[in-house]
Amino acid sequence: MAEAVILLAVKKICVALGNEAINQATSKFKKFVSQITELQGSMGRIKRELRLIHQFLSRMDVRNRNNETYEIWVEEIRMLAHGIEDTVDDYLQLVSHKHDTGWSTYLKKGFTRPNILLSLNRIALSIKDAEANLMHLFQAKDRWVSMVGDGNNPSNDSSNYIVERSQHLASISRSLGEEDLVGVNQNRETLEEWLADDLLERSVITLHGMGGLGKTALAANAYMREKEKFQCHAWVLISQSYCIKDVLKCLITELSRNVKKTNWGNITDMDTGGFREELKRFLKLQKCLIVLDDVWAPEVINDLFGAHVPNLKGSIILVTTRIDDVAQLAFPDRRITLEPLCEKESWELFCRTAFPRETNHECNAELLHLIDQIVSKCKGVPLAIVSIGRLVFMRDKTKEELRRIHDQLDWELINNPSLEHVRNILYLSYIYLPTQLKSCFLYCSLFPEDHLLKRKALIRWWIAEGFISKRGRSTMEEVAEGYLQELVNRNMLQLIDRNSFGRIKSFRMHDIMHELAVDLCRRECFGVAYDEDNRRWEHEDRDERRLVVHKLNKDIDQEISCAHSLRSVITLDNSMISSSSILRLVVDNCRYMSILELSGLPISTVPDAIGDLFNLRHLCLRGSNVKFLPKSIEKLTNLLTLDLFRSSILELPRGIVKLTKLRHLFAEKQTDRHRRLFRWCTGVSIPRGLENLTSLQSLQALEAQDESVRCLGELRQMRGLRLWKVKASLCEHLCESLLQMKCLSYLSITASDEDDVLQLDGLNPLPPSLHKLRLSGRLAHTMLGAESPLFQEDAGGQNLYSLRLFWSQLKEDPLPSLSRLLNLTELHFTRAYNGEKLVFLTRWFPKLKVLRLRDLPNLKRMDIQQGAMVSLERLRLINLSSMEEVPLGIEFLMPLKYLSFEEITVDFLLLLRQSRIGGMRWWHTLREENDMEAGVRT
Ligand SMILES: *[C@@H]1O[C@H](CO)[C@@H](O)[C@H](O)[C@H]1NC(C)=O
Ligand SMILES: *[C@@H]1O[C@H](CO)[C@@H](O)[C@H](O)[C@H]1NC(C)=O
Ligand SMILES: *[C@@H]1O[C@H](CO)[C@@H](O)[C@H](O)[C@H]1NC(C)=O
Ligand SMILES: *[C@@H]1O[C@H](CO)[C@@H](O)[C@H](O)[C@H]1NC(C)=O
Ligand SMILES: *[C@@H]1O[C@H](CO)[C@@H](O)[C@H](O)[C@H]1NC(C)=O
Ligand SMILES: *[C@@H]1O[C@H](CO)[C@@H](O)[C@H](O)[C@H]1NC(C)=O
Repeated sequence: MAEAVILLAVKKICVALGNEAINQATSKFKKFVSQITELQGSMGRIKRELRLIHQFLSRMDVRNRNNETYEIWVEEIRMLAHGIEDTVDDYLQLVSHKHDTGWSTYLKKGFTRPNILLSLNRIALSIKDAEANLMHLFQAKDRWVSMVGDGNNPSNDSSNYIVERSQHLASISRSLGEEDLVGVNQNRETLEEWLADDLLERSVITLHGMGGLGKTALAANAYMREKEKFQCHAWVLISQSYCIKDVLKCLITELSRNVKKTNWGNITDMDTGGFREELKRFLKLQKCLIVLDDVWAPEVINDLFGAHVPNLKGSIILVTTRIDDVAQLAFPDRRITLEPLCEKESWELFCRTAFPRETNHECNAELLHLIDQIVSKCKGVPLAIVSIGRLVFMRDKTKEELRRIHDQLDWELINNPSLEHVRNILYLSYIYLPTQLKSCFLYCSLFPEDHLLKRKALIRWWIAEGFISKRGRSTMEEVAEGYLQELVNRNMLQLIDRNSFGRIKSFRMHDIMHELAVDLCRRECFGVAYDEDNRRWEHEDRDERRLVVHKLNKDIDQEISCAHSLRSVITLDNSMISSSSILRLVVDNCRYMSILELSGLPISTVPDAIGDLFNLRHLCLRGSNVKFLPKSIEKLTNLLTLDLFRSSILELPRGIVKLTKLRHLFAEKQTDRHRRLFRWCTGVSIPRGLENLTSLQSLQALEAQDESVRCLGELRQMRGLRLWKVKASLCEHLCESLLQMKCLSYLSITASDEDDVLQLDGLNPLPPSLHKLRLSGRLAHTMLGAESPLFQEDAGGQNLYSLRLFWSQLKEDPLPSLSRLLNLTELHFTRAYNGEKLVFLTRWFPKLKVLRLRDLPNLKRMDIQQGAMVSLERLRLINLSSMEEVPLGIEFLMPLKYLSFEEITVDFLLLLRQSRIGGMRWWHTLREENDMEAGVRT
């Protein structure tokens, strides 16, 4: 993992040797051209050397992992790379600093008279040192560290080792016996059924799930029972670094074992093509059962069988995999996805392994509680349960012993050799990750166990950390989302929720994965998770660069004030303790800081000195009490994200437009907590120079003004835009500007007051990228007419997933028009309609999942026909004060995941209880209480 650190240092040097920095250096140090040239030369050589070392390390054999000599060497490399990164940062700061006056306080330290040349010389010296040290270390490697599978012949050796190891693991998995298959009975039956089927086109079956869930065990079980029903059969372990020829050879050898030796050709001198032909002959003439265990890439099938599997006799190919893409190889009705065991099944399995000799596998009652805790740590992963069960079986079954096992379980998961294979199975997944994904993966483990991670936030952090590079025409955000998807596909992150149109929204790390990753983080000094009782902070002799604070306490001040090399601080705890001083401490002590995420802390002032954090890329003070930012913010030229959402911000400094790398700007003050008022938020205005922020992808929210609206069109990268106070007279210009934004996906527009009309006909065609639209204010009547941009053929509207209308105060029922938006998954109305009746006809809104109707003052009736909104999952009706009857046909929507009637009268509640939905599950709040939180379930 030192690889990741090296990669970051290399990237940094690339920036220092990039055009921007070179131009700055040349203009600033006109008189010192030779020094600058020399310095650049050194950096170039260091970069080359680092890249070589990176290459060497990433091909390194995993067996060296626990060799002390090797680890020390890697540790030295890592520290050196960190040092280089710091120095190059100093250099970047020096050359990019605009003014000679107002020198950064840091560079001043140690010099009696601030002098650019002195600083330059100091940096040059330090770079020279680094270069020499690097050479020295590279040579030291040859003297001290003779590694297994040395760099000369690494891939071969290392991959052999991985193959060997995965064979070993597979044999353990296969040996999980009948009794270990609790909870898979259903799966086993399904599998047997499929194996007995003779459907020729259903030849591929996939078993899919994360490491340790028992895919191999299930396959092995079926293989043992069913193989005799096939004319020939083979079990082949694929693993990631498979060699196609070896696999084919192995396959043919196994298959021919069961077949009378007729002229099956001569295996010893066959090439890959020959093997393939041979395999085809098998599948043409025989009914074969082939198990491909642990497949990592969908190409494998093609490599083995060619594009078309010639299946004439009903052969079956059973594939086990951790990868989603591979599972897709089978038809949907031939895939089994393995899930963790439920609590009861976990118990059963554990007791059977730990107490095999006791009657009914029962244990002493006083152990129950401890066992409960131990079993819950395994989170339903059979392999973990069996391993720990076996451990308990071997030891004294006393309370003390079990408590010891429990207390040390985390540690044991990592260190106990008899548990090693659980960890190894998971570790294997890690080894196979590319370097960039390794960093991304470890990053997730800095958060607490079971912490819910959000896609957008995580992606912004990854980018600010420098883990992500732009690739071709994809933005960094898109690349990062791909990484995230990949980690989910590899079952290393668990998907928890998607948004209503299917994009990943939240996810977490599986506990056992988390344990593994935490250990790796510690070894690699990747980062520190700080909480009250489990402090992993050991900064005395280490230089961790990332700190995620789970729990704030008084000592945190002390800790931060001596952690000078910190580059990221993320706080997850917004309790009051000392939290407002954190910002100041960081600003005063951590000069290289690049990520500051202090969301929810009661911070009210931002110190001037924040402008000295030249490296800062991410500054989040979401929900804070900050009203103003200091002028010095304009010096933060590397800033990518500035987040003051839901804070008390009133105004941004004018210099904000100098931050031309800014990608996400959130600044909004919430004035009405309940979001019922027309203007429940205020944005910020950027009167001049907005057109210079050309990298902006999110701008939420801007108070629309004549000039800023005119130049919005320059922001071609815009993805998410929220505008407040849009005057009717500005609409035309606004539409022109919006049409320039070819990537726009979220748009929210609020009129300047309740009676102003939003005239958005000019937004034609609606950008095809637009997925979410929120309009607040009276709508021009043409907006729902036939000519409306919403409903134009082949553009715009059909891609809308979410539509929210606020205060449109329509007189006519908007549903007949809106029902033409076939892909709509979310629809919200607040004061959108003044009529008395809403009707949902059959086949309308086929994909709608969420419907919310709020504050429709005259609405008396709602009719829902059978076959309308067939996908609806959530329905909320709020403050429909004229509603006289229970929505007609609401039973056609049942059952819903969530149904609520909010702010209703007691009379209406009675109606509900008497109605047909009386027996189903729904929620309500009463109007008089005026207490939104006190939900009552009926
Ligand atoms: C570690 O590597 C050194 C030198 O390559 C070797 O002599 C030593 O035996 C190795 N130690 C272990 C525990 O493998
Ligand atoms: C891989 O190792 C084997 C012996 O273990 C050797 O015969 C072969 O040449 C090596 N292949 C490569 C590509 O180094
Ligand atoms: C297979 O090929 C090997 C090497 O070419 C040869 O020695 C052997 O006799 C052949 N076997 C048969 C059955 O043809
Ligand atoms: C915007 O950029 C242009 C060209 O780089 C520059 O001349 C202008 O001063 C900038 N505007 C502001 C307000 O900074
Ligand atoms: C929207 O729906 C149409 C028809 O149902 C479909 O062809 C199209 O692919 C959908 N568009 C998106 C972006 O889902
Ligand atoms: C509920 O709707 C009525 C109009 O029907 C409105 O006067 C009232 O303010 C609404 N309640 C809330 C809490 O907004």
